[in-house]
Amino acid sequence: MFQKVHKYLHQVTPDRDPVLREMETYADENGFPIIGPLVGRFLYQMAIATKARRILELGSGYGYSAFWFSLAMKSKGHITMTDGDKANKRRAFDYFKRAGLQSQFEFRVGDARRVAKKLDGPFDIILNDIDKQGYPDTIDLAAPLLRKGGLFITDNVIWDGKVCDRKQDDTTKAIVEFTRLLYQDSRFFTSIMPIRDGIAVALRV
Ligand SMILES: C[S@@+](CC[C@H](N)C(=O)[O-])C[C@H]1O[C@@H](n2cnc3c(N)ncnc32)[C@H](O)[C@@H]1O
Repeated sequence: MFQKVHKYLHQVTPDRDPVLREMETYADENGFPIIGPLVGRFLYQMAIATKARRILELGSGYGYSAFWFSLAMKSKGHITMTDGDKANKRRAFDYFKRAGLQSQFEFRVGDARRVAKKLDGPFDIILNDIDKQGYPDTIDLAAPLLRKGGLFITDNVIWDGKVCDRKQDDTTKAIVEFTRLLYQDSRFFTSIMPIRDGIAVALRV
């Protein structure tokens, strides 16, 4: 049932920028996990709805999610990207240049949690897509960096349905713990959207 719905949502999703398509092909061919077009459109929508100007990404890969944010914010936006792999930085800037994106991009190579600790807020949106075992730590990192009314968006909180299993590996346990902590945290009001692999959308209150 879930796969059927997912396939349908892909079918109704309009076509997009050819460079984004190219980035999707690269992900398919290399088994690189990107948020994909269903979540990409959602990020675009959230950037417009919050009138975002400053966005922080924890785990940017080669820039697919940042590309969607940039399409929404255009020249008014500033995106701080982080990733542990410096090859992703080169690849991201190559795509951005070819697409003529107008936002300002800053790409910091290193552990996103360590980088975030040194940043000054406020950000309008923080996208969280790092290694899943690191998820529980990101709540206390994100809360002071977000403005009130800003969004803390986290990918993969359904984890291919494994969060529902009785027997869970350590990665799944970390995601479940993260979700439990986030729902209970009085600094946020959280909902989970079951698109693609599930995204937690936490409003900073
Ligand atoms: C799922 S991919 C992110 C994709 C990106 N958000 C997108 O959809 O286009 C996760 C990325 O986060 C990076 N990563 C994982 N854990 C990290 C950490 N603790 N600090 C920095 N980067 C991390 C990986 O190198 C990988 O490129």
